[in-house]
Amino acid sequence: MARRKKKAFPHKAILGIEALSVDDVRYIIDTARNLRSVFKRRRIKKTPALQGRTVLNLFLEPSTRTRVSFELAEKRLSADIINIAAASSAIVKGESIFDTGRTLLAMSPDLIVIRHKMGGSPHFLHKHLEIPVINAGDGINQHPTQALLDLLSILDRIDTVEGKTITIVGDIKHSRVARSNVLLLKKMGAKVRLCGPPTLLQPEYATLGGEIFYDLKQAVEGAHVVMMLRVQLERMKMGYFPTTNEYRRLYCFTAKHLKLARKNALVMHPGPMNRWVEIEPEVADSENSLILDQVANGISIRMALLYLLLGEKG
Ligand code: NCD
Repeated sequence: MARRKKKAFPHKAILGIEALSVDDVRYIIDTARNLRSVFKRRRIKKTPALQGRTVLNLFLEPSTRTRVSFELAEKRLSADIINIAAASSAIVKGESIFDTGRTLLAMSPDLIVIRHKMGGSPHFLHKHLEIPVINAGDGINQHPTQALLDLLSILDRIDTVEGKTITIVGDIKHSRVARSNVLLLKKMGAKVRLCGPPTLLQPEYATLGGEIFYDLKQAVEGAHVVMMLRVQLERMKMGYFPTTNEYRRLYCFTAKHLKLARKNALVMHPGPMNRWVEIEPEVADSENSLILDQVANGISIRMALLYLLLGEKG
């Protein structure tokens, strides 16, 4: 049988969702699923796809699951890894991202994974260093790998998001997860609802394609998927809501809310979650919850992106 010609991946970086076409997204999801099934069968979870390639992980904002997930993905593909974290980086001594980038470039990495509190920093590095870059979260702007792993987690349970109602709830204003998800889910044909306190959900979000709700019960009614977000206190310089108790009373997702959604509705949270503030444990740990699938799928999506950006090109 003739071998099917490998499709080329047309991107040199993953900076945000906008640049990806529907076909690209399907290709990433398929690649992630293929890699996942290969690794499921293997006792030794390693392939030489990125042998001899160096990946630099530059995490200048706190991160547990994203950082660990990238590292595991890189190790499974046999890349050499350099890790730089906020506290140990010269950036805390006042070095600019440009100078840090140039210093790092002198180490000849093949790809940089960056998390930074400043929106646009991955774009800046990609433009000036001219090497592949993956955005692992830039300020309140985007978190494209999170949106892709969220989509894979949903598609493992329902065969399409097209025409499905997906409600995103919480601190939309400060959430790069929300921004990337709205863009991706709309691109794939979902109906997106956004819900949160008016101080954290400006009407401008409607321009991204989401329908705005301020009442949680209305927002989750009939939803196929409910995605909760963390309240990002570290990005708030002033009080966006009177007290945590008040927030919990109005926006904590409970078993009662789950009953208003569709039967077998899926519940998600990118983590880290504040139990009892954003989500009741009864719901977070229920059969409807995809929260641990999201963590596991993070490794497959990141392996797929690393492979598509570096491995295929030989
Ligand atoms: C998210 C992030 O860092 O943007 N977490 C993650 O990557 N798993 C969401 C958050 O911090 O609330």
